[in-house]
Amino acid sequence: MIIVCQQCQTRFHLDDDATRKSTFVARCSVCGHLFSAYRPVRTQAITFIDLEKVRQAEADDTVMAISNRKGGVAKTTTCLNLGASLALYGKKVLLVDFDAQANLSLCLGKRELPTFYDAQKAVSRPLDEFIVATAYPNVWLLPSGRNMVLLNKNYFGSRDFEFLLKDRLETLEAEFDFILIDTPPSIEFSTLNALTAARRVLIPCQCDYLSTHGVDQVLRLIALIRKKSNPLIESRVLLTMLDRDTSVSQMILSKIKRLYQGQTFETLIEMDGQLKEAQILSMPAIHYSRKSPAAKQYIQLAREILVATDRAAVSAP
Ligand SMILES: Nc1ncnc2c1ncn2[C@@H]1O[C@H](COP(=O)(O)OP(=O)(O)OP(=O)(O)O)[C@@H](O)[C@H]1O
Ligand SMILES: [Mg+2]
Repeated sequence: MIIVCQQCQTRFHLDDDATRKSTFVARCSVCGHLFSAYRPVRTQAITFIDLEKVRQAEADDTVMAISNRKGGVAKTTTCLNLGASLALYGKKVLLVDFDAQANLSLCLGKRELPTFYDAQKAVSRPLDEFIVATAYPNVWLLPSGRNMVLLNKNYFGSRDFEFLLKDRLETLEAEFDFILIDTPPSIEFSTLNALTAARRVLIPCQCDYLSTHGVDQVLRLIALIRKKSNPLIESRVLLTMLDRDTSVSQMILSKIKRLYQGQTFETLIEMDGQLKEAQILSMPAIHYSRKSPAAKQYIQLAREILVATDRAAVSAP
């Protein structure tokens, strides 16, 4: 049989009789990497489990970025309402506003507060000193503000700059069940940091023709990030602002489902005027009107994510 070191990719021929065990540990004689291996059945290729990667996957499961290269597709709305919905299920949620427009902070009525930029300027202070409580139980916020544009200017291109957020969030992962990061519609410091920190990416896609181009761009970026800085990153598309009454929406819905087969959430978010009303009052829609269609759908989305991430969902909140 052939075994391949997961670290340096060196291939070794191993006598089939070398071990009769279904699982065994091997050490690479080239780089010294230690890994476990098992063969589920004789006829299948041997599958190797890289214990280091498994541990990392478990630890990083908390962080999810909300991203799309296109503007106005409901990234911020989704971050806010999904976060508030997960909180209804009793989960502790940190919302990270990583967009200099600071729309997420504004939607929660938080203005002119210290931001991640300020936290970077004071690296000796723990990040949780910059986190603020919101009016909603179980929902916390790392606010954004005008000085967030300076992150791009001061750090973009510097050595390992894309790991700055990941390194700071790692100190908080034990405190929260979910950390959701809202990103801007451009590829810059914030987006690259968010995609490096996140284990999962939720890509909101508005049900219109041009939105799929934004999804393609973000998927290409995710493929690059997977190679460079975040090998375990996964993504899923969320259809937003669906208008079931128009045939255009229905056509685009079936096109998107075909294009991203198996990579879309079951839950769909419909067009709902009450989301805009809630925004004016700086509230998540699920607290403004729990019975509105989009509020119910965001709660359903939270449930879908809880089930997918094996975090036992409790009965409806
Ligand atoms: N399901 C919905 N029904 C009706 N309006 C919606 C819905 N989702 C979002 N909107 C509205 O669409 C607009 C854009 O939403 P949002 O700000 O969340 O998008 P975004 O992707 O974060 O934008 P940006 O790229 O500028 O950050 C907002 O006015 C919001 O209220
Ligand atoms: Mg936004």
